[in-house]
Amino acid sequence: MTIHSKSGVVSELSAGFQENVIEEIKSRCSIVDVIGRHVVLKKAGSNYKGVCPFHNEKTPSFVVSDAKQIFTCFGCGASGDVIEFVKRYHNLDFQGAVEKLAAEYGIELKKNQYDKESKKAIYYDINREAASFFYRSFTRTANPGIEYMKKRGMDAGTLKKFGIGYADEKWDSLYRHFMEKGTDIKLLLELGLISQSKGRYYDKFRNRVMFPIINTRGKVIGFGGRAIADQTPKYLNSPESPVFLKKNNLYGLNSARQDINKEDYAILVEGYMDVISLYKSGIKNVAASLGTALTESQASMLKRYTDHIILSYDADEAGQAATLRGMDILHRMGCKVKVLHIPDGKDPDEFIKKNGKDAFLQLVKKALPFASYKIQKLRQKYDLQSTEESVIFLQETAKFLRQLSPVETDVYIKKIANETHISEGAIRLEVYGSNMEHLNPKTREMSQPEHETDKKSIKKMDGSKLLLEKSLIKLMLLKSSYVPRIKPYETIFQNPFCMRIYGLIQSLYKDDEEIDRKKLADALEPAEYQMLRSIWKDVYLADRDEDVFTDCISHIEDGFRHKREQEIIQILSLSDEDMDSSVIEQLTRELMEIQKQKVQR
Ligand code: UTP
Ligand code: MN
Repeated sequence: MTIHSKSGVVSELSAGFQENVIEEIKSRCSIVDVIGRHVVLKKAGSNYKGVCPFHNEKTPSFVVSDAKQIFTCFGCGASGDVIEFVKRYHNLDFQGAVEKLAAEYGIELKKNQYDKESKKAIYYDINREAASFFYRSFTRTANPGIEYMKKRGMDAGTLKKFGIGYADEKWDSLYRHFMEKGTDIKLLLELGLISQSKGRYYDKFRNRVMFPIINTRGKVIGFGGRAIADQTPKYLNSPESPVFLKKNNLYGLNSARQDINKEDYAILVEGYMDVISLYKSGIKNVAASLGTALTESQASMLKRYTDHIILSYDADEAGQAATLRGMDILHRMGCKVKVLHIPDGKDPDEFIKKNGKDAFLQLVKKALPFASYKIQKLRQKYDLQSTEESVIFLQETAKFLRQLSPVETDVYIKKIANETHISEGAIRLEVYGSNMEHLNPKTREMSQPEHETDKKSIKKMDGSKLLLEKSLIKLMLLKSSYVPRIKPYETIFQNPFCMRIYGLIQSLYKDDEEIDRKKLADALEPAEYQMLRSIWKDVYLADRDEDVFTDCISHIEDGFRHKREQEIIQILSLSDEDMDSSVIEQLTRELMEIQKQKVQR
C-alpha cells in the first residue's frame, strides 16, 4: 500500500476540499486551447489531431477531444485531462500545474488552504502506511504483540476492527521501511514515528502494541503504543502534529458513531483497552478521551451523534476529577450526563472481562444522573452530623441546585430532604433565599433568586454604618427628644467611641433639657473626644433632622430584618424531622412577613 505516492495525494485532493477549484479549472480552461498553444492541432472529425509532444513521431497520433476534455496519444499511450497535460508538458507536479492554470485563467486559489490540505494528505498517507506496517508485523508471524493481546482476552475480529498492530523491538524497522520508500525524514520526525539522537534515527515505538487513532473521516492521525515489557511510559502516544490535535479527537469514535447514533447514548471511557474490550463484549457505543479531561471540542463531536453521555472513568482520584470536569462541560453543552460507577475500583475493561456484558449493562442502567452525582459528591465531602458542616453542605448544594431547571430543582429538593433529614422548606429557602414566591413551588418558575443584590445592599450598609451611628448621636446632641426615640435601636452602636458617647448621653439625659455638651466633652478620653468633634463638625443634617432620623431608623430596621431573616433560614435549615411543625410554620410565616416587607420597600 503506497498511498504516499503522488497519485494518492491527487485522489486525496480531488476527493477533498479542492474539488471546486479543480472542477472550475477544468471547466474554464479549454483543453484544446491549452494544448493548442504548444502543439499544432488540426480538426479531425469531432476531435483535434497533432504530433505528440511526449514522444518522437512523424505522423500525428496525438488526439484531443473537445467534448471529453481529454488527450490521448495512440503512439505512446499518454493520456489525461488538462491538468495532466500541463503537468507533463511543463514538468510540474499536480500542485504546480493547478497553480499555473489558475494563474493563467484568473482563478483564485486559496493558497494557504491548498498547501495545508495537500500537506495534510501526505501526513495521513504516512500514518496509514505506518499502521499497515505495524498491522503486518502483528498478523503475519508470531510476535510478542499478538501474544500479549491474546493473553488479555482479545479475539482476531476485534483486533482487526481496530487495526491493532505491533511495533517490534528492533531500533529501525519502521525507519528502514520508510527509507526504502523514499519518504521525507522530516515528515516522519514531525509525526513522531521516528526520533533523532546523536545524528542517528531510530523508531519511536518499540516492542509495543500499536493502537492507530483514526478520526471520523477515516484518517490515521496518530498512535498509542502499549508497552509489553515493563517499559515506561505504559502508553506512548504520538505527539501533536499538523494532523493530530488531542483535544479534537476521541479514540474509537470512528467505529462507534453508528452504534452511538443507534443506541442514542455514548459511553465515554478513559483508555484504549476499555474501548476495545467493551467492543469485544458487544458494547460498541464507546469512545475514549485518552486519559485527559474531556474538552469542549470533543463534547461537541459527541453531540453530533447523541445528547446522552455516560461517563465511565476510573475510580481513582484522577478519574474522578476528570469526571467532574467532563460532566460540567457536557452539561454546559446541553448534554444529559450520567456517571457510571464500577465497584471495587476496576476499570471497564477489567469489569467486563470478569462479569460480562449484562453485568456492565446493569451498571449502565444504574448510572447516576448529573445532579445526583454532584450532590452525592457534596455529601461525601461534609460531615452531616456536624452543624457547621451541614450549613456549608446546604449552601453548596443550594448553589448547585440554582443552576438546574425548576422542575429538576424541585425533584432534588425532595430527594435531599429525604436523604439528609434537612427539611424541604429549609432547602427551598436556601436555594431561593429571599424570594418568597419560591417558598411555594407552584409559583417558583416566575422569578430569579436575588442573592447577589442582597449581598450588595448589605455591603453598602456596612460602609455607611459609622455614618449612621454618628448621625444618630448628632441628632441626640441637637435635640434631646431623640434620645428616647433612639433607645429601642441602641444595639446599633458598635463603634467603641460611639458606644461610649452614647452611654454618656444616656446618663446625662433629663426630660425637657438639652444634653450638656460641656459635661459630655469633659467626661471623654482624648480619642473619644476626637470622635465627638468629628460628629459635631462633619455630620451635616441640613435642618432636615426629622428626615435624617426616619432614614436612619428604616435603615436600621432593614438591617435587623436581614439579620433575623438569616437567623430563621439557619434555624430552618438545621431543623430535622423532630422539630415541632408548628414552630417551623411560625418561623416560616415570620420569614415570609420579613421578605414581604423587603419587597415592598
Ligand atoms: P490507565 O493507566 O488507566 O490504563 O490509563 P488502562 O487504560 O487501564 O490500560 P491497561 O488496561 O493498563 O492497558 C488510561 C489511559 O490514559 C492514557 C492512555 O490513553 C490510557 O488508555 N495513558 C495512560 C497514557 O497516555 N500514558 C500512560 O503512560 C498511561
Ligand atoms: Mn486497564
